[in-house]
Formats: sequence, structure tokens, C-alpha cells
Amino acid sequence: MMIVRDPSRPFAPGVPDLAAFPHAEWRRVLGRLWRRPPLDLMCGIDPLGHPPLRRAIAEHVGRTRAVRCDADQVMVVGGSQQALDLVARVLIEPGDRVLVEDPCYGGLAGVLRAAGAVAEAVPVDADGFDPALAERRCPEARLACVTPSHQFPTGATMPLTRRLALIDWAARRGGWIIEDDYDSDFRHAGQQAASLQGLDRHGRTLYLGTFSKSMFPGLRLGWLVVPPSLVPAFVAARRTADMAPAGLTQAAMAAFMEEGHFGAHLRRMRSLYGKRRRSLLDAAARILGPDLPVTAGEAGLHAILWLPEGSDENAAANAAHAHGLAPTPLGFHRVTKGCPGLILGYGNLAGWDLDDALKRLLSAISPLI
Ligand SMILES: Cc1ncc(COP(=O)(O)O)c(C=O)c1O
Repeated sequence: MMIVRDPSRPFAPGVPDLAAFPHAEWRRVLGRLWRRPPLDLMCGIDPLGHPPLRRAIAEHVGRTRAVRCDADQVMVVGGSQQALDLVARVLIEPGDRVLVEDPCYGGLAGVLRAAGAVAEAVPVDADGFDPALAERRCPEARLACVTPSHQFPTGATMPLTRRLALIDWAARRGGWIIEDDYDSDFRHAGQQAASLQGLDRHGRTLYLGTFSKSMFPGLRLGWLVVPPSLVPAFVAARRTADMAPAGLTQAAMAAFMEEGHFGAHLRRMRSLYGKRRRSLLDAAARILGPDLPVTAGEAGLHAILWLPEGSDENAAANAAHAHGLAPTPLGFHRVTKGCPGLILGYGNLAGWDLDDALKRLLSAISPLI
């Protein structure tokens, strides 16, 4: 099914509130740089990325996610999608078995396929990815791709015992963990668990994050933190890919962080999305009722509407689109079949009447379930 991602429609997943973005501050930073661009940025750029941005990212993830790195381990990437692609180029040989969560981020499947890897699906439960189950299912795997802080898309948070077990697995197997920390800038409930990378004393974790949710997806900037021993291989892969993201955009992002605009924006958005999540859960319970439960993890920008067993989630998503809404079917992210559902983004609900959107959703899907 073709996924229509119209950010102007209610429930589009992965879309932050673009109206609340501090356009004036961003414009000032961009204007200043473009008026008098530093000559080195007009010529080329380090394949690891603009050093001030790498320093700002290392400081940010160190402070907020207990990631232990210095700026020389940070590679600025064109979003975490590119980080996944680089990881596959560097760490995967054709035929390798790679452990993936089921369901997982749909963009991972194509990357693994292109690298000739075999995805080994490990069903997630209420605690996310289960390392013991993964090892039983595929003892020969040496790479695991996980979203421990806010499992995508189910929303589970991986507890400390499993985090430590996964690190132990990687250390024993000489394997690698890809920690995709795509939206944990926004934690609304529960305790912010330390990143796997920060817990990992064996240097087996590659940590990736993105500005797509905290700034805007079209910015195409993110980061990849790699163990020091892997830096040269990643730099070589980067040279054959795109060299580096646009230097002036990186410089603007660095200035935006250094001048405190990013931190202030995050604080405002954290509070806004926390309220929006609460309103969505309350309104959904009231309007959709107990037969159509909506659950939301403790972080991020999306919830899941669970459809009754046997219902056609693609038809439900299409009907919702016909009613001017933009949820996506959960099955798009499944490796194997599972309970049907719709992913409801709540980042972009500004300007919409939430009750009205939920009533439209109910009337769209009612004939199909
Ligand atoms: C779990 C996960 N990983 C990676 C990405 C890719 O994000 P981007 O390439 O925009 O940084 C997404 C996008 O929604 C995602 O949900």
C-alpha cells in the first residue's frame, strides 16, 4: 500500500508540530551564516561533520542520554536513515543474519535487504526486545538493531536487566548493537533509562539519533556515535556515499544549539507533546471506547490504535485518509503477521479539534471492523 504522509493531516506519524517551531530564531541564525559564509564551509567539509556541531551533539547526548563519547566519535549524518545505511555498509556482509525487532521501523528492512543481510525477526513484548529469545532464535547473529528507549512502533521501554543482557550478548559474541534512539528527547512519563551506549563498557554499541523530531524531518540531520576503533571505516564509507551533509546547514544547527535555542525549543515541545499525549489518550478512551484501545509509550510522538483481530488495517488506513486523516497501518512495520493497528501521530495536532478528528476516525473505520 502506498503510504501518504501528509503532515497537514491529523495523526500523521513522525511529524512534529511545525507551527510551534521557532522560525524567527532559525531564520536569524541562517541569515547570519548565509550573509557571510565561512570560506571553509563553502569549500568542503570533514566527512565526520562540522566540528562545532559534533561537539554540540556530544554534549547534548552526554547530558541527556548518558552517552559516553567525545566529538571525534560523532559522525553527522543525513538523518538516522543514512546512519542505518552506513552501518550496513560497514558492518554487514551478504548473508549475515541480523536481529531486528518485530515490529520495527519499516525503513530498516530496505537497508538490510540492500546489504544482502537476512533479517531475523524477534517479536517484542511489553519490555521490548528480548535478548534471550533473540539468542535462542538465531545463535549465529552478530548484529542487533534495537530501539530500547521507545520501541518503534509499540512504545515499550526496555528495562535495565534486558539492556545489560543485550550488552553481555554483544560482548560474548563479538557482536554489535545498533541503538536507534530516534525520539527520546521527548519523555513524558516513567524514568529516562540510560542509553545502552552509556551502559556498555565493552564498546559494542553504535548509537544513532536524529533532529527529525526535535527540529523538523526535512532538515535531514542526525548523528551516529561509533566506537573509536570503527571511526576510520565509517569515514571511508562516508567518502563513498555523500561526503557530508551541507556544511552551512550543519553550522546553522551548531549555532542554534550553542546559543540555547535548541534547548529552549526542546523544553517547550516536551511540555506541549506531554499534554497532547494525555489529551489523545483521554479523548480516545471517551470517543473510541474500550473495544478500540489506544496505547502510547512513555516517550515520543505517536500512539497505537489497536484494531480487533482479523480487521484489515490497510483498508482502515485508506478509509481514514478518505476522511482527511493520516494514520499509517502498523503492518507496514511488521516483519511477521501480528495484531492489526493504526499508528496515530500526535505531534502535529495543532489547529485541529481532537474530538472531531477522533470521531471522523471512528466513522471511517467502523464499517471495516
Ligand atoms: C525508529 C526510526 N528510526 C529511524 C527513522 C529515520 O529518521 P530520519 O532519517 O528522519 O532521522 C525513523 C523515522 O521516523 C524512525 O521512526
